Amino acid sequence: MKLQHIVAGFALVAFALAASAQQPIIIKFSHVVAVDTPKGKAADYFKKVAEEKTKGRVKVEVYPNSQLYKDKEEMEALQLGSVQMLAPSLAKFGPLGAKEFEAFDLPYLFDGYASLHRVTEGPIGQSLLKKLDSKGITGLAFWDNGFKQMSANKPLKQPADFRGLKLRIQSSKVLDAQMRALGATPQVMAFSEVYQALQTGVVDGTENPVSNFYTQKMHEVQKYLTLSDHGYLGYAVIVNKKFWDGLPPDVRGQLEAAMKDATRYANAIAATENLAALEAVRKSGKTQILALSPDEKKAWQKALIKVHKDLESRVGKDLLQAIQKETG
Ligand code: LMR
Repeated sequence: MKLQHIVAGFALVAFALAASAQQPIIIKFSHVVAVDTPKGKAADYFKKVAEEKTKGRVKVEVYPNSQLYKDKEEMEALQLGSVQMLAPSLAKFGPLGAKEFEAFDLPYLFDGYASLHRVTEGPIGQSLLKKLDSKGITGLAFWDNGFKQMSANKPLKQPADFRGLKLRIQSSKVLDAQMRALGATPQVMAFSEVYQALQTGVVDGTENPVSNFYTQKMHEVQKYLTLSDHGYLGYAVIVNKKFWDGLPPDVRGQLEAAMKDATRYANAIAATENLAALEAVRKSGKTQILALSPDEKKAWQKALIKVHKDLESRVGKDLLQAIQKETG
């Protein structure tokens, strides 16, 4: 081989290496809710801060509204590395084998964001995220949505009102037990399918924080919304572990800092986003909003509290006691 060929060959390799060094690292962040929700806004905020902090070395592509994957598929896609980041609801970790996350679904476990944050932002939250390592997943943070309300085409004021209703739930066994304790039949369904299922009568009702209820237009197909605050819905932001561990350490540090900022943002806006959504539902005039009297609330609590004992062995007795210590 002539010398100039060898030199040309080296130049080509050097050029290719330089070009690949300039290619941004892509993070595909897939989620199932609308852009205009606590999670949707926080995902976009993370993108902005992450791209700023890494000075363009990382590009975050956010795919909202189940555009790429539905609930179950997105978990599989993360493990396969087809996407790098998700923020599934804590009620969707059971099928991964992380049943402890379903503790967050227990009805009336938290009486507000403050007691919840003592759990998610303390050692209990950290140890829960750590449990995901063995699934090839790194848990980065907890993001709030909020407290769930019940909807149907009939007023739900007393536990007896639930009898015979078919209600959509996320894939959590705790939520299954919750609906059964009320005398309803639970039906697991992907979030992206709920609107149509409500519209066509495949299910009679559902539960969700109002931000999800409104942005999925469920108010157009549900006549009543009971402000029950009977349970919490929040998220764990998770990444593919191999991808995360393989990042250059300085980039990973910048992304961790961006995630801290995004978490602060998410948890600061969640409550007001849900209040604004409630106002929007009220204004729409399509769904009647019902409050529970203290006696009615007591009746719901009485019907539902047994779920703690019944599901204690699934979510872990020690974990439940540790959470109750923080919230009690
Ligand atoms: C649901 O499926 O109802 C929620 O988990 C959707 C979400 O991500 O908030």
